Amino acid sequence: MAKPVQVEVWNPNGKYRVVSTKPMPGTRWINLLIEQDCRVEICTEKKTILSVEDIVALIGDKCDGVIGQLTEDWGEVLFSALSRAGGKAFSNMAVGYNNVDVNAANKYGIAVGNTPGVLTETTAELAASLSLAAARRIVEADEFMRAGHYDGWLPNLFVGNLLKGQTVGVIGAGRIGSAYARMMVEGFKMNLIYFDLYQSTRLEKFVTAYGEFLKANGEVPVTWRRASSMDEVLREADVISLHPVLDKTTFHLVNKESLKAMKKDAILINCSRGPVIDEAALVEHLKENPMFRVGLDVFEDEPYMKPGLADMKNAIIVPHIASASKWTREGMATLAALNVLGKIKQYPVWADPNRVEPFLDENAPPPAASPSIVNAKALELPVSKL
Ligand SMILES: NC(=O)c1ccc[n+]([C@@H]2O[C@H](COP(=O)([O-])OP(=O)(O)OC[C@H]3O[C@@H](n4cnc5c(N)ncnc54)[C@H](O)[C@@H]3O)[C@@H](O)[C@H]2O)c1
Repeated sequence: MAKPVQVEVWNPNGKYRVVSTKPMPGTRWINLLIEQDCRVEICTEKKTILSVEDIVALIGDKCDGVIGQLTEDWGEVLFSALSRAGGKAFSNMAVGYNNVDVNAANKYGIAVGNTPGVLTETTAELAASLSLAAARRIVEADEFMRAGHYDGWLPNLFVGNLLKGQTVGVIGAGRIGSAYARMMVEGFKMNLIYFDLYQSTRLEKFVTAYGEFLKANGEVPVTWRRASSMDEVLREADVISLHPVLDKTTFHLVNKESLKAMKKDAILINCSRGPVIDEAALVEHLKENPMFRVGLDVFEDEPYMKPGLADMKNAIIVPHIASASKWTREGMATLAALNVLGKIKQYPVWADPNRVEPFLDENAPPPAASPSIVNAKALELPVSKL
């Protein structure tokens, strides 16, 4: 028998039982569920990562839907447990859902939600922050000051890279990759080279228009190019940021060989998923190339780092906080709750998961729809009109 898991209960007499595996920011998501007759149970266990066994215990005998986290392994065991409990929906509080076996969810007819759009700018801003911090060696310089080593201005003290006029490379120019590219192009007048399986026409148009604006104002115009291979980006860019989804095609996309293809003093940023980089190979590369710098938000075996990474001065490492702005995290909680609620109430699925603003307006009731269900087609769920 699994040991009982601690929960906090809201609206105990609600008709539908919705479980959240973690406390989430804000209260709007709780209120929206309560208003629609849900009993909300929030797991308050202290441990950070819940096991499959913990979540099975949380689901119990009757559960209509679960809001979960990217640290959890949502596969056959959990979807069959949820189905047995009468569950209709699961939503990740994340845009990525590489922790979810969508085929297993399909087998049990369970809708799988994610939270796109609301974290695009926040995640891109963290990637931009890491790019700047790496280029200007901000973390090293901060440690130096705190250690009391500063004894006066020197011409060679913490000399870094100027971004203006350099080339930013984006691998995976979807929502977040494109937002990051725009920040770096517009903010720092960098030229863009990108690689994606699909053309990013909006991004190309933006850089063209901005280049024309600069030219008309007597400045050097920025340029863009869509690379025909990832290698082209690796060879040519000064700052490379990774923003693809994690799947079989992107596992260890950056490995020993691809690291070698990069400039010796390039900057590599990863705010996508850890396994996109072969982290052991990266540690070796950082050791051999002290001018090469990396900014990492995600790690191959989270919460662990590969041996040696934490000792590298040319690595900036933060604990998976790319989406951690108040607005975004509260919005993610709202979208995840509405994904689950929508399926319970048999609402249709919102037609465009990139246009989630109507769900985030605190002064109006949200549309009667699930904002983003990734297996809507497979389950043949009805789609709402915008
Ligand atoms: N660190 C964080 O906290 C955090 C926050 C948000 C998102 N993410 C990660 O970022 C990813 C991207 O999010 P998004 O909203 O921009 O998704 P998106 O689907 O809009 O963009 C992903 C892009 O990757 C491209 N792609 C897929 N396979 C590729 C390949 N082999 N080579 C090159 N490009 C490829 C796709 O064509 C798409 O344009 C998520 O899947 C998630 O894993 C991380």
